[in-house]
Amino acid sequence: MMRIAHLSDLHFGTHLPRLADALSEEIHRMQPALVALSGDLTQRARPQEFAAAADFIRMLPAPVLVVPGNHDLPGWRPLRRFIHPWRDWRRHLSSELEPCIAGQQFIAIGVNTARRWGLHPDWSRGRINADQLAHVARLASGADPSSVRILVAHHPFLLSTAMRRRGLVGGAKRALSGLQPARIDLILGGHLHQSYAGIAGGIVVAQAGTAISSRHKGEPNAFNRIEVSPHRMQIDAMQWNSTGFVVARRRFFERSGLDWRASQVRAADR
Ligand SMILES: [Fe+2]
Ligand SMILES: [Fe+2]
Repeated sequence: MMRIAHLSDLHFGTHLPRLADALSEEIHRMQPALVALSGDLTQRARPQEFAAAADFIRMLPAPVLVVPGNHDLPGWRPLRRFIHPWRDWRRHLSSELEPCIAGQQFIAIGVNTARRWGLHPDWSRGRINADQLAHVARLASGADPSSVRILVAHHPFLLSTAMRRRGLVGGAKRALSGLQPARIDLILGGHLHQSYAGIAGGIVVAQAGTAISSRHKGEPNAFNRIEVSPHRMQIDAMQWNSTGFVVARRRFFERSGLDWRASQVRAADR
């Protein structure tokens, strides 16, 4: 089994410093094999917000995989949004927008679903395109057959019942069928500031709430603690209860042939 700390929507600029410290301590206690940050690191893509996010990431145990969200685009400076949209991201956080980390037991592939503009009125919605799918498939096919294959993207590939009026990432349906041959096991996302997990296209999708920001959408601050092997998975939504992060919900999944499915009990307990 490997352990993943899945954080999302930190939104530096609206963050709560006490929670940032508590979260960093909690993650050090967890000793994860991977820390995945699924976008919206800032509130308004200001340089000082990126600098604060970078300071926070430096406190975390490595390796850390980070992808951008729609809030990491400079929405309030149109010229910069269209001409140099990722200048401050690259300056403060990473030269990569779509990093890939291959560990002993896993491969984690980042995809940037944030877009400068779109044909629909809601530019915050995001998209995954055919080139990105091919990129993921190429990297995943080169991974060790026993590796857990993880995709990290900001926008959701699965909506909960409570979130059914919100949009999926553009291209989600085509992406899910395209990702099956790549044998992706787990997709990590955020954007909706709600924690839930389920199955889409035979793949486990875990959504994380906002880890440390004041931008609550009806849920306390939260992150996901995930234990995963090639055949079973446990996803704990860890919610802030004003003194610490505690398990609010626990979900189990198991592999059945090529597909994953929800399980009532941990496979190891049978
Ligand atoms: Fe967000
Ligand atoms: Fe977002």
